[in-house]
Amino acid sequence: MNELHVTGIFDSHAHYDDESFLDDQQAVLEHLKASGVSRVLNIACSMPSCETSLALAKQYDWIYCAVGIHPDAADDLPDDYLDRLRAYAAHPKVVAIGEIGLDYHYENVDRVRQQVVFEEQLVLAKELDLPVVIHSREATQDTMNLVRKYRPKGVMHCFSGSAETAKELVELGMYVGFTGVLTFKNAKKAKLAAQAVPADRLLLETDCPYMAPVPFRGKRCDSSMLPYTAQAMAELQGLSTQEMIDQTRQNACRLFEIEE
Ligand code: NI
Repeated sequence: MNELHVTGIFDSHAHYDDESFLDDQQAVLEHLKASGVSRVLNIACSMPSCETSLALAKQYDWIYCAVGIHPDAADDLPDDYLDRLRAYAAHPKVVAIGEIGLDYHYENVDRVRQQVVFEEQLVLAKELDLPVVIHSREATQDTMNLVRKYRPKGVMHCFSGSAETAKELVELGMYVGFTGVLTFKNAKKAKLAAQAVPADRLLLETDCPYMAPVPFRGKRCDSSMLPYTAQAMAELQGLSTQEMIDQTRQNACRLFEIEE
């Protein structure tokens, strides 16, 4: 049990194959089960992490995974990368394509190249009838244009846009994911956006090892910290923390077609 005494948490965006968990991955994961976390969706971001992400999902029955290429890794892909993703996606524990999208923050990968790889994976997800996990940073306009074009099912992860964009995503049939950012005092924009999304379209995410919620801000994040993010989301939605956790778990199970 955690301090807030909640159970049944579904973390729909984690990176437990990240190198920061190299030394104590097993201990961290075992601790989660005792902290009220019942399910984790581990998200790949590069070709190698598709492998490590799926390995985790095979090892733990309560961990699922998404396979895909993050915009930061869109350069230097093998020519047959789509075939490789297709092969990974044949495994029943692969429940989504992600994370995919656009990131114009660091500019280490050409924008046009990012758009090509994003678009190819949106097409792949349609072909496989899988939801997508989308990463968009400082690229709202271009991301939204492709979402409008392909109308994928899926989630806009770690949402940082306006309430208006959040509403449009909901109208387009998508889910909107929020991280520990919701607990930050200065996160007015994210809070307004989280308020604008109907409860049955919200997902609870860590994006661990990043984005630890207050009171752990700046530390290595893991899913056991999610009750604090859920509490902040629940206040915005006028629900109890446990109700918010149950609702977001049901949402994730519906979107990723996982039995509750
Ligand atoms: Ni991520």
